[in-house]
Amino acid sequence: MDFVPAIAQTNAEKLAVITHQQYDSPDFLSPTTVLPSPIDQFRAWFTAIQGVVYEPEAMTVSTATPNGIPSSRIVLFKQLDKRGFIFFTNYTSRKSKELEANPRASLTFYWREVHRSVRVGGKVEKVSREESEEYFKGRPIGSRVGAWASKQSTVVGENELAERMEKMKEKFGVKDGDKDGDVPLPEFWGGWRVVPEEVEFWAGKPSRLHDRVRYLRVEGSPDDAPEWKIERLSP
Ligand SMILES: Cc1cc2nc3c(=O)[nH]c(=O)nc-3n(C[C@H](O)[C@H](O)[C@H](O)COP(=O)(O)O)c2cc1C
Repeated sequence: MDFVPAIAQTNAEKLAVITHQQYDSPDFLSPTTVLPSPIDQFRAWFTAIQGVVYEPEAMTVSTATPNGIPSSRIVLFKQLDKRGFIFFTNYTSRKSKELEANPRASLTFYWREVHRSVRVGGKVEKVSREESEEYFKGRPIGSRVGAWASKQSTVVGENELAERMEKMKEKFGVKDGDKDGDVPLPEFWGGWRVVPEEVEFWAGKPSRLHDRVRYLRVEGSPDDAPEWKIERLSP
């Protein structure tokens, strides 16, 4: 793929991007060409781009306060099960506080190398403690200690984090260079599952005439065996 630099014109008044990227995916998205379940369709796309897309698991997670003030950040998608899409984070973070108060989220993936994007919207639930423990024990030791050290989303002094990290290493008996250790899952840390009510698949096309297919969950269909209405959308 050609790398087109993001040429920006900039002066004191304005910064302007003047490149026009072109997209040309070979996909043809329509209700008749996609799989009946968006979970299966996502699995097919995510599997197919392994080794092609760099860090395909990086996604934007958007949350909102109960009075509608949105915020977004990049988080790593970690698991997909028949109920939904799972990521892991600190339960006292800004995003988690917003999800507690308003349990809905939107996820967006953008896979530049294949000119594809996916959007997921739905309600959220915490995954079980056992699922979080299972995931946590597979993380590198440094990340496990780091989860204890960081009071995510709070203001922190310059040396505070390094000091807390040292304290936590001491608390759990972790030495520099250790590959493993007994670092339990903090009670303030774990997974969120986004249970989709809407999933959209996007494939980029020339002249901005992109393909879009949206799955809408049929109201009242169960979380673990949903039925879907599939429609093609204008770009
Ligand atoms: C590539 C990338 C991956 C990230 N993965 C995670 C993640 O899996 N979990 C997480 O809590 N934060 C992750 N972050 C950090 C978040 O973007 C964010 O800074 C942090 O979660 C605090 O967000 P909040 O204050 O809105 O809660 C990641 C950031 C980047 C750039």
